[in-house]
Amino acid sequence: MKRPIVQLVGTGRYTPSKILSNQDLERMVETSDEWIRERTGIRERRISESHETLAYMSKVACEQVLEVAGLTPQDVDAILVGTATPDRLLPAAACDLQAELGAKNAAAFDLGAACSGFLYGLSIAEGLVASGSVQNALVVGAERLSRITDYTDRATCVLFGDGAGATLVQPAVDGDRGILSTYIKSDGTLAELLYRPGGGALCPPSEQLLNDRSYFIKMAGREVFRSAVRSMADACDQALQQAGVSGEQVDVLIPHQANIRIIEATAKHAGIPMDKVYVNVDRFGNTSAASIPIALDECVRAGTIRSGSLVLLVAFGAGFTWASVVVRW
Ligand code: ACO
Repeated sequence: MKRPIVQLVGTGRYTPSKILSNQDLERMVETSDEWIRERTGIRERRISESHETLAYMSKVACEQVLEVAGLTPQDVDAILVGTATPDRLLPAAACDLQAELGAKNAAAFDLGAACSGFLYGLSIAEGLVASGSVQNALVVGAERLSRITDYTDRATCVLFGDGAGATLVQPAVDGDRGILSTYIKSDGTLAELLYRPGGGALCPPSEQLLNDRSYFIKMAGREVFRSAVRSMADACDQALQQAGVSGEQVDVLIPHQANIRIIEATAKHAGIPMDKVYVNVDRFGNTSAASIPIALDECVRAGTIRSGSLVLLVAFGAGFTWASVVVRW
């Protein structure tokens, strides 16, 4: 088994208290609680209020991480934020977070890898810390998908929610504990199966953009589903192989929380029984880049993941992007 160069220290999360239930959605679009639960496993999701900005949610999550790590914001050398919903398009969400946190000694930048953003962040942070240029890197996954969701489109509005989660990457100190492997991959030819056509430089804000509703997420659900199952399987295989471990050795699998059927297919492929798979998609829906760090924090605080646990993290998202990390906690 590979010896880790970096370790993860501390976790944190923020989830808004406002709940949007399947019953609420029944009153908004033509859908049913039964349809949503059967097709996705989702019962409810969290929706941010106006004061719950991406920077605010991320700051709360990061403060929890720093408390566990025994560090101050000034100790942070790098802040990496995976998000598709920054508070504003310029500057990076990570810079707004840096200012809120008071982490004045850090470099701060975003990762545009959609739902895989947090795992892309871990992979990049591993490289930064391994190179010796960074000691303490905060890695955040945060989303306000409710702000880019079309609540008249039943095919997408039942899926998404808001939240943030974070962890810290540091040089490994204990020989066995830390990141054992990372894997990142993309296929840009599939971009238009899941995308937000308007609002960028190609199609800047205009009256037509508002009329077309093209600033909202568009998704070809069935095709995304098929690709997700394929890419999650590939990501599991690659990370396990590179770490030199098998699915049977994994104590906890945290898959991206998009859909219970994708989660079950991923676990089956990796040979990991469902009692080792963490699921919170029923409570939070798909929070994109935030889903894995929120789940990680829940597992660590509940004792589901403890010192020595072998953990497999696996994600896919728009791009398409997919990624995986094996970590000995
Ligand atoms: N309520 C009731 N009926 C619905 C709803 C709804 N909310 N949404 C769609 N339907 C209907 C469709 O109109 C269709 O009706 P029709 O047969 O009369 O045409 C029928 O249900 C079946 O639609 P499908 O899209 O084929 O349903 P499917 O079984 O594929 O489930 C779902 C749809 C849940 C979206 C599924 O395809 C899925 O989970 N895909 C992956 C989505 C995903 O994970 N996206 C996030 C990617 S991560 C990221 O980067 C953000």
